[in-house]
Amino acid sequence: MRIAVAGGTGQAGAAAVAAARERGHEVVVLARSAGVDLVRGTGVAAALEGVEVVVDASGVQGKDDPTAFHEAVTRSLTTEGQRAGVRHVVVLSIVGCDRVHGFALYAGKVAQERATARGGIPFTIARATQFHEFSRQVFGFAKAGPVHFAPSGRLQPVAVREVGARLVDLAEAAPVGGRAADFAGPREESLRTMVRAYAKAAGERGVVLPLRVPGGLGRAQRDGSLLPGPDAVRGAQTFSEWIAALPAKA
Ligand SMILES: NC(=O)c1ccc[n+]([C@@H]2O[C@H](COP(=O)([O-])OP(=O)(O)OC[C@H]3O[C@@H](n4cnc5c(N)ncnc54)[C@H](OP(=O)(O)O)[C@@H]3O)[C@@H](O)[C@H]2O)c1
Repeated sequence: MRIAVAGGTGQAGAAAVAAARERGHEVVVLARSAGVDLVRGTGVAAALEGVEVVVDASGVQGKDDPTAFHEAVTRSLTTEGQRAGVRHVVVLSIVGCDRVHGFALYAGKVAQERATARGGIPFTIARATQFHEFSRQVFGFAKAGPVHFAPSGRLQPVAVREVGARLVDLAEAAPVGGRAADFAGPREESLRTMVRAYAKAAGERGVVLPLRVPGGLGRAQRDGSLLPGPDAVRGAQTFSEWIAALPAKA
C-alpha cells in the first residue's frame, strides 16, 4: 500500500520508513528536506496523491511552539488527506503526555491527539515511551559548560527501530478510533543511570552531576507518570543492549 510518513527523516519516522519499505509498501516522505512543509502546507496535496495511510511522526524543532506546530501539521494532513482519500491516520504520541502539566512539548502532543480526533479521517493514536536515544539528548542539552546533569526519573525506554515497526503494524491494521495500547521497552530504567551509562559508553569526558528537575515535567518523571500502563505492548531491546551496541567515541 502507499503510506506517507510525516517526519520520515526523523528518528522515529526514518524507522517507520525503513520498516514499511522492508514490508514492500510504497513510501512517501513528508518533511521539509523532502520538499513538503506541513506547517505552511506547501507540497502536501501533491505528495498525498494516491496515499491510503498517513503515519505522523513529525516533531517540532527549534523554538517553535509545539501546540501551534502540531495543530498546523495535523490541519495540513487531515485537510489534504481527506481530499486525497486517505483512509487512516496513525499519530505517534508520548505515553503519559496528558499527565504532565506545564511542559509545552507534552501539551503539544495532547493538542496533536485532539486535533487528529477532530480531523475527519479514521485514526489511531500510537503512544510510545522515550527512545533509548533520549539518554543522548538529555546528556546533550542538560549541561552548563563542561558539566552535564543527569535528572532523576522513572522511564521505560524503547528501541526506535521497534517503534517504527509498531507504527507500520498499526498502519496495516484497521483504525482504532482512539488510543492503541501503549508501546514501551521491556523494562523500567532510571533516567539518571541512563544518562551516566550513555556518557560512559560514548567516551564523553565531562562531569555528570545529579539534577532534580523542577516543575511538572520533573514531577512526572519522578512519580512514574511517564511509565506505560499494564496492558502495554513491549519491545525487545533493553537499554543495556542499546548501550552495548553504541560505537565508542574515538
Ligand atoms: N524522542 C523520543 O524519545 C520520543 C518518544 C515518543 C514520541 N516522540 C514523538 O515522536 C515524534 C517524532 O520524534 P523524533 O524524535 O523522531 O523527531 P525528530 O527526529 O526531531 O524528527 C522530526 C521530523 O519532523 C520533520 N519536520 C519538522 N518540521 C516539519 C515541517 N514544518 N514540515 C514537515 N516536516 C517537518 C523533520 O524533517 P525536516 O526537518 O526535514 O522538516 C523530521 O523528519 C515527535 O512528535 C515526538 O514528540 C518522541
